[in-house]
Amino acid sequence: MKYTHHNAELGIADVGKTVILKGFVSKKRDLGNLVFIDLRDTEGITQLAFYQDNDIRSITTGIKNEFVLEVEGVVTERSSKNPNMPTGDIEVDVKRILVLNHAKQPPLLIQDDTDALEETRLKYRYLDLRRPVLQQMMKTRHQITQCVRNFLNEAQFIEFETPLLTKSTPEGARDYVVPSRIHPGSFYALPQSPQIFKQLLMISGFERYYQIAKCFRDEDLRSDRQPEFTQIDIEMSFNTQEDVLELSEQMIKAVMKTVKGLVIEEPFKRLTYEDAMCTYGSDKPDTRFDMHLNDVSAVFEKTSFKVFADVLSSGGFIQTITVKEGASRYSRKDLDKLTESIKVFGAKGLSFVKVNTPSTGSIVKVLSENELSQLIARSNAEIGDLILCVASDINTVRSSLGYLRKHIAQLEQLIDPNVYDFTWVVDWPMFEYDQEEKRYYALHHPFTRPKDSHKSRLIDAPEQSIAYAYDLVVQGQELGGGSMRIHESTMQKNVFDILSLSEKEQADKFGFLLEALSYGTPPHGGIAFGLDRLVMVIAQTTNIRDVIAFPKTSSAQCLLTQAPSTIANSQLTELGIKKA
Ligand code: AMO
Repeated sequence: MKYTHHNAELGIADVGKTVILKGFVSKKRDLGNLVFIDLRDTEGITQLAFYQDNDIRSITTGIKNEFVLEVEGVVTERSSKNPNMPTGDIEVDVKRILVLNHAKQPPLLIQDDTDALEETRLKYRYLDLRRPVLQQMMKTRHQITQCVRNFLNEAQFIEFETPLLTKSTPEGARDYVVPSRIHPGSFYALPQSPQIFKQLLMISGFERYYQIAKCFRDEDLRSDRQPEFTQIDIEMSFNTQEDVLELSEQMIKAVMKTVKGLVIEEPFKRLTYEDAMCTYGSDKPDTRFDMHLNDVSAVFEKTSFKVFADVLSSGGFIQTITVKEGASRYSRKDLDKLTESIKVFGAKGLSFVKVNTPSTGSIVKVLSENELSQLIARSNAEIGDLILCVASDINTVRSSLGYLRKHIAQLEQLIDPNVYDFTWVVDWPMFEYDQEEKRYYALHHPFTRPKDSHKSRLIDAPEQSIAYAYDLVVQGQELGGGSMRIHESTMQKNVFDILSLSEKEQADKFGFLLEALSYGTPPHGGIAFGLDRLVMVIAQTTNIRDVIAFPKTSSAQCLLTQAPSTIANSQLTELGIKKA
């Protein structure tokens, strides 16, 4: 029989009604003369009651957690109500029960605060997903996807599907490859993004494209990265950077309003890449708190403190952050821990000053009085504050202090998790120069367009040319990124040349794109948002695995299916592949 209600639906107004419910047994309490069963479905839980005079009470003896039941009964008012449950005012006095299926003892507690290890949860993901918290995550993801689709459909975008078996698209990671049986020795690459295809669709004359696209990147995994993830991928023709930013703001606003009930102010804040790096030491700054980086290099131009003098003479920088009222709260041991934590960024040490009368700290004795007072002034520090100082090359200084400001803000609980600081980081450089490999790399990707006023620098000084490129950042996380694209074959070739791609590589990898660009390509640009990350931000979780139904572990395995796995020799032979 069909159920009459979901398990989160019934309340005091339904008392007296006869209802049919279905679901899983969440919990059974046998009090001897009275048995309670919590029945759970995707919407919630209803308490079933089997009283002493109930003939069918004996059936409950064999019922265990996760059995699947159909029950019919009468809604009654509870004698002791549970205000923490939406259906806590009532219970259902069961008159008929049908066991639809039995269940083995589950290997994890199916409730929000389960104590199961993540390994067990991922192995039995289908059970893990029964937990209300994950049911809610999946629903939030669905709502976001639907909201995005509705928004983009209304804005006249067309939804496309682009191939998964394709040729490598460079987005800075390794490719996942698929061997071809029909062409032994040849491989497809799974797309790192649909970048080239969406540009080809602009060349085909479709002016507004979108796709909820699966992307594959073989890269080191972190808590916000999966090897297989989803993008909300967007591209437009005959537009400007401003059009993309405005559309994106409207879309994010619509999602936040519909799914979260929050009104987000627009326009979003904007920072140039240069400002973000100088002020926050990061291209994805968390702007919910200050603790800015201060450049104090000028204070030490003539210093006799050798460590600082050496750093400056080799072209390095000395910068600080100030922890307000931190002087008394950080012990030597705490500071040693902080020093240890920035070694991964290449920092050799962390100097500190506890501002006081007199100030104390690791460098106080080696600085002149004037240097110390200037250091304090330029660090905007006051009595009671703690100054942390790193001296090194600019990348090390920024990454170390950028990390420390976030880490300390977490320790000091300076971050309000309910603040959404959507911020555009704009004006990215086109390239970065790799000193070791002596070559340029694209900071976004090779199809990014230089600003009109920077076109000539492509030839004279590539490292100084700024692109029409932008990232959307929120709560210290990169939510999306995009750019205006090169729409001229010659400029695209120029950029490939700067990236040290040989003529042959250009022809092999991108010949079709260079050719396509020469048939009348409209000016175009777009953006891609990480859907998984958008769900994380809205659902307020820091673990990307919480928002993906069947995620991979941090070593890129699926514990449920045991992928990746070996394949039969016969399959290998068919593919023309020999084991090493
Ligand atoms: P980008 O490489 O910046 O741009 O990716 C866009 C967004 O995708 C998300 N993202 C990821 N999410 C989870 N796991 C990953 N491994 C992962 N990698 C990226 C991030 C990121 O901001 N084709 C361009 C877009 C464009 O230029 O239009 C692109 O893919 O949220």
